[in-house]
Amino acid sequence: MEISDNYIYLDHSATTPVDPCVVEAMAPYGSEHFGNSESSHLFGREAANALEEARQTVADVLGCRLSEIVFTGSGTEADNLAIRGVAWAAMRDGRGRHIVTTSIEHPAVGHTVDQLRDLFGFEVTRAPVDEYGQVNVDDLAQAIRPDTVLVSVMMANNEFGTVQPMVKIGRLCRERGIVFHTDAVQAPGRLPLELDDMHVDLMALSAHKFYGPKGVGLLYVRRDTQLAPALTGGGHERERRPGTVNVGGAVGLATALRLVEEDRVAECARVRRLRDRLIEGVLASTPDSRLTGHPRQRLCHHASFAFKGVEGESVVLNLDLAGIAASSGSACAEGEPEPSTVLKAMGLPRDWLLGSLRLTLGRSTGEADVDRVAAVLPGIVRELRACCGG
Ligand SMILES: Cc1ncc(COP(=O)(O)O)c(C=O)c1O
Repeated sequence: MEISDNYIYLDHSATTPVDPCVVEAMAPYGSEHFGNSESSHLFGREAANALEEARQTVADVLGCRLSEIVFTGSGTEADNLAIRGVAWAAMRDGRGRHIVTTSIEHPAVGHTVDQLRDLFGFEVTRAPVDEYGQVNVDDLAQAIRPDTVLVSVMMANNEFGTVQPMVKIGRLCRERGIVFHTDAVQAPGRLPLELDDMHVDLMALSAHKFYGPKGVGLLYVRRDTQLAPALTGGGHERERRPGTVNVGGAVGLATALRLVEEDRVAECARVRRLRDRLIEGVLASTPDSRLTGHPRQRLCHHASFAFKGVEGESVVLNLDLAGIAASSGSACAEGEPEPSTVLKAMGLPRDWLLGSLRLTLGRSTGEADVDRVAAVLPGIVRELRACCGG
């Protein structure tokens, strides 16, 4: 199927196109420089050099040490290695079995802590969020107990874009001496990644969210953080992520991270203007619509809405027919639309819960694109309400 030039892609929080400079940087590692970075011959040494150069690029962007960077197979894997690694190390050393997290985490975090609860006897406290999806630092402080071994709070939410008060949360964890993990998968190119200001001990990233390749992620591990290996095998990545390293992927991730960071301030300002134009346009033209997430403390590229009495998934299908790629927070289970647990946690009223729509902008987005969405959307919502009795 051909995708027409007029098709508008507004799903950059799901994934982004790979930057042509990233494709070019990766290309040699699939063909001529195909070596295994663990081999001692020339091919292996070439791969190992490329891997260490990629690690240096990431360390320069994040302002951290080379030894603190672990390349992984995805953002999900980075979250899993971090959370299970801290929990198992604490279990091994008899330091406690309590984890504090929030009610709005991505399943990469939420399902991992649930499994620690169900299979390993951990207790999990999920701090609530307010109507804008923001965590209250006092609630987190109250949730922390003497046996708490980990606090995990996402930097910015994928469904509704709200950014959390990271500096305050990090300070709290540092004062209490508790390891702080953040899922920052939605952040690169959109927020500064200041590890020391945020007192972050563990941070997960994923290359395909910032114009890099799919299937490669990164875990930042602050020195002295106790991690038990959650994957076992060879000694790759200082025994923190065994398995032959995807050298081309690491080169792609590093190149993409450097490029989005170089461009971050200017690109964010451009996209934020378009996002605000889109939000104003949609809210003004569509009755019974509201913005979800925080009105200001939100990712610069992120617009998310709820429409009363319609199904977000139907809006997405109709937008697709109109040549616009978007997404909805609600997933379909066996044909029945399920409200997003994250929107439920924010206390959205029942008759709005299914009607969520996420429009996430990126490098290819221009003014004409957001204006077209604001023009097309009201008609789609009106027709769905008329036909489906909303
Ligand atoms: C907040 C957040 N965390 C984790 C992930 C998982 O990343 P990956 O697709 O690399 O496994 C995503 C992807 O949607 C995400 O948005």
